[in-house]
Amino acid sequence: MRASLMMLLAPLAALAAPASDLEGRQAAQSIDKLIKAKGKLYFGTCTDQGRLTTGKNAAIIDANFGQVTPENSMKWESLNSKKGTYTWAQADYLVNWATDHNKTIRGHTFVWHSQLAGWVSQIKDKATLTTTIQDHITTVMTRYKGKIRGYDVINEMFAEDGSLRSSVFSQVLGEDFVGIAFKAARAADPDAVLYINDYNLDSPTYAKTTKGMVDHVKKWLAAGIPIDGIGSQGHISSGGGANLAAAIKALAAAGVKEVAVTELDIQNNGANDYATITKGCLAEPKCVGITVWGVRDNDSWRPNGNPLLFDSSYAPKSSYTAIVNALQ
Ligand SMILES: *[C@@H]1O[C@H](CO)[C@@H](O)[C@H](O)[C@H]1NC(C)=O
Ligand SMILES: *[C@@H]1O[C@H](CO)[C@@H](O)[C@H](O)[C@H]1NC(C)=O
Repeated sequence: MRASLMMLLAPLAALAAPASDLEGRQAAQSIDKLIKAKGKLYFGTCTDQGRLTTGKNAAIIDANFGQVTPENSMKWESLNSKKGTYTWAQADYLVNWATDHNKTIRGHTFVWHSQLAGWVSQIKDKATLTTTIQDHITTVMTRYKGKIRGYDVINEMFAEDGSLRSSVFSQVLGEDFVGIAFKAARAADPDAVLYINDYNLDSPTYAKTTKGMVDHVKKWLAAGIPIDGIGSQGHISSGGGANLAAAIKALAAAGVKEVAVTELDIQNNGANDYATITKGCLAEPKCVGITVWGVRDNDSWRPNGNPLLFDSSYAPKSSYTAIVNALQ
């Protein structure tokens, strides 16, 4: 396979670039271009200023990915750790880089119990927490209106049994924070696609998928809450690909307009799993794309299991090739 691919590419290499660039150091084909050719919107990755300004990250993202998610820079504690003060530099860098390089942006994330500003987790009364959520969402979405395709409005709100996770949001507002957040987001930028996102939505029969995400989203859509999409993060282990592909279908059946795999990484180098999930997204009309959670294995938040598509020298791995093959 490798040899035949190299022979195929040889004439192109002679025309387009010094041969050394193609000798194992650059991914031969853009998985973003290939997935777009199949009618999807993007193949993306998370990144931020620190990564984009070191090593080959920017070059690889530019060449191989069509969408970026800020890994950390748009989390509440990053943007607004002090009440009344916003720190935009890192998020602006990401948005400007993506705009300059014609990349779609998934904004991430507003209502999340983790990496939350400390002052928000201290709020005890409904009225204050309501306006705090509304103000935060409105402030961020107004700044980036027209530049960010969509947002994870709510992240990780379910417990493993499908009930609501205990957080400042559920403790003070019960389920009402869902409607408060999505309605504020719709009002702030009516063109943005609004997502609810979670992890362990990796199997179509797991309680967090069924009783948690699917049942609640159906109910909230019926109540007029403007949820456009469900994101399955996809932090899985090798062997989990088929279940995640089936979960994509189950989530799409909740009645949302679209679904996406939003933070994919696969412990223990699951090349077959990457192919299976890619085909699963192709097979589900509502699946708009796949985002992997980082470029290089050793920059991953779980660096020990070779979870990503490029190795520590930025060389594309067999997982990358498996996706290329799945898209051809
Ligand atoms: C930017 O990307 C979009 C697809 O996301 C594509 O249709 C368009 O042609 C691209 N524009 C440029 C200038 O590359
Ligand atoms: C990743 O690996 C490269 C090459 O081995 C090394 O230079 C770099 O410091 C590593 N980065 C991390 C975060 O471990």
